[in-house]
Amino acid sequence: MASQDGKVAFITGAGSGIGRGIAVRLASEGANICIVDVDADGAEETANLVGQHGRSAHVIRGNVASEAHMKRAAAQCVERLGRLDVAVANAGIARGGSVLEMSVKDWQDQLDVNLTGVFLTVQATAQQMVKLGNGGRIVCISSLAAENTSANMWSYSATKAGVRIMVRGWAQELGQYAITVNAIGPGVIETPLAQGLAGEEGGPIRQALERRTPAGRVGKPADIAGLVNFMAGSDGEFMTGAYVLMDGGLRDVRGGSQPDEDAMGERERLMRAAMERRARLQPLLDDRS
Ligand SMILES: NC(=O)c1ccc[n+]([C@@H]2O[C@H](COP(=O)([O-])OP(=O)(O)OC[C@H]3O[C@@H](n4cnc5c(N)ncnc54)[C@H](O)[C@@H]3O)[C@@H](O)[C@H]2O)c1
Repeated sequence: MASQDGKVAFITGAGSGIGRGIAVRLASEGANICIVDVDADGAEETANLVGQHGRSAHVIRGNVASEAHMKRAAAQCVERLGRLDVAVANAGIARGGSVLEMSVKDWQDQLDVNLTGVFLTVQATAQQMVKLGNGGRIVCISSLAAENTSANMWSYSATKAGVRIMVRGWAQELGQYAITVNAIGPGVIETPLAQGLAGEEGGPIRQALERRTPAGRVGKPADIAGLVNFMAGSDGEFMTGAYVLMDGGLRDVRGGSQPDEDAMGERERLMRAAMERRARLQPLLDDRS
């Protein structure tokens, strides 16, 4: 029997990157998946991948920053798929910037998605789990940035440090309902969000990162998905209130190599692509109706 046979997993931000990796892994372990994302196209692509494992996928277009969306999404998950056993609060955005220049809009958007969005996801799904009475597993995606920061990352770090501490309080309250709550701190994982840091396969940014990382490679969504599967499976029963870093050893590496001209060129190109993606997703984030 696979470790998630017959369960239903509710995953936010499952239309891309780490969330998609988690959806595919839990489906391969027997779970049916509720895919929640502002990006309906990305969510449909993930639903196809889940279907390839012979599991049901239900797509809900929803914004984690909206209380009404999350309440509706969690209720719909139970209506359509019959249960709600695992919730993964994964949706997140990154709005880096100088303290002298960051706009209040960027600051607020990031708080709304990364902090309020995690709270609303956990609240809505935990309420359903308590009502159903079968216990549950909740996993929140924090970051290595909860521990380390920089002149560009401080605001993102604040949200991820918030997630890291919130799970400890939630674990205290929800234990009585046999619900565990844990956080994961990914390092640099190859996804559209982190393309500027992870670089491209074989490119100068990637090669420098591989040399610096003790594990010798960039992280993959599948790495994080394996840990979620552990936390959501029977081996994870005694783990609650934990934060587990999965960064290939990068946290304790000091100082980066100076980027050469090739790396600078690649970074500029990837940052332009990231800004285009951000411009496409921004109206979806602004829509909370
Ligand atoms: N990639 C990394 O290196 C890395 C490292 C540490 C932590 N993380 C965290 O992992 C999580 C997933 O990141 P990723 O790298 O897969 O990013 P990604 O951009 O590839 O995927 C994020 C998904 O979340 C969705 N999303 C964004 N805001 C949303 C909202 N308000 N409501 C619903 N859906 C929303 C996006 O549409 C997208 O499909 C984030 O919380 C991120 O902060 C990523």
